[in-house]
Amino acid sequence: SRQWRGVIREYADRLDVTESTPVVTLGEGGTPLIEAHPLSERTGARVWIKVEGMNPTGSFKDRGMTMAVTKAVERGAKVVVCASTGNTSASAAAYATRAGITAAVLVPEGKIAIGKLSQAIAHNARLLQVQGNFDDCLDIARELAANYPVHLVNSVNNDRIEGQKTAAFEVVEVLGDAPDYHLLPLGNAGNYTAYHRGYREEITRNAATRLPRMFGFQAEGSAPIVRGHVVTDPETIASAIRIGNPASWELALVARDDSDGYFGMFSDAKILEAHRILSADVGIFVEPASAIGVAGLLERAEAGMIPKGSTVVITVTGHGLKDPQWAVRRPDGSDVTPTVVPVDAAEVAEALGLGAAA
Ligand code: F0G
Repeated sequence: SRQWRGVIREYADRLDVTESTPVVTLGEGGTPLIEAHPLSERTGARVWIKVEGMNPTGSFKDRGMTMAVTKAVERGAKVVVCASTGNTSASAAAYATRAGITAAVLVPEGKIAIGKLSQAIAHNARLLQVQGNFDDCLDIARELAANYPVHLVNSVNNDRIEGQKTAAFEVVEVLGDAPDYHLLPLGNAGNYTAYHRGYREEITRNAATRLPRMFGFQAEGSAPIVRGHVVTDPETIASAIRIGNPASWELALVARDDSDGYFGMFSDAKILEAHRILSADVGIFVEPASAIGVAGLLERAEAGMIPKGSTVVITVTGHGLKDPQWAVRRPDGSDVTPTVVPVDAAEVAEALGLGAAA
């Protein structure tokens, strides 16, 4: 056995790198693809979950960031910049530290989860809270990259998409072919675009025989792609995908049309219901945005749009510890408070409902 070497070294033959490329890696990729039996039983499909929260900083962003920071360093960058709803900033901060360069990150004030904010601070990013939303942050990041000596590492940078396409390679390797359906959240639609590219490349090199139908999902309060227009004031508890003007919008439409795909949207309540199913029934803890693919599976299967027997992969994009408060919050808004017991085995047994002692 050997240690996984990170996506650039594992897939060097399919990425734009050479022997002399200064690879910046934290061992990202090689994440588990887990069959979700409760979801398979509910839908009659064979449902697999690609658990991207298992990446080094807890989200799929690391696949793209290893590539983006590596290429930035190769081109001589000393500072990388990004706009972020949280995960990109955590990842950029970690990989910049690894490379010995600076990450400048712009986040919407008060709108990113505490886990992600802590990561960026811990990794010593130059983090600024902008008095605007993610879309405003991205506008500024692009302007900085155009006019100052900083290198943009948002997914408008093609190196990000290149790194992220490796997730599709891993899925094909495990299943032996592409699945029939692939479901995932849509924010900037960079990841949707990346999977599409990865699957296309697998077909080209005869590792896969088909392109999955690609289904992407947004939160109702920030669903520009589904609604067909920019949302100027996006709102959702799924803060990772609180984006009103997606960077990869056009590419996502191309990928949808090529794959006979579909875009849908869900309320925050539906997202949290899917979040609960994943944690309580399947055993996988994700952040709210990451659960939206499961909401999509249940709704599409119910609508008869995912035939029984189909192979379905759902990417869950970020770890539950990023934004854990939703696990303890009940649908009515109150919080779960665990029962307090005295230091007494009999009382603990009673509280656990274990019955009488033997
Ligand atoms: N899921 C999570 C957990 C995310 O953090 C993001 C995007 C997405 C899904 C959507 O992916 O943008 O490629 O369509 N987060 C970005 C960030 C915007 O700044 O961390 P996408």
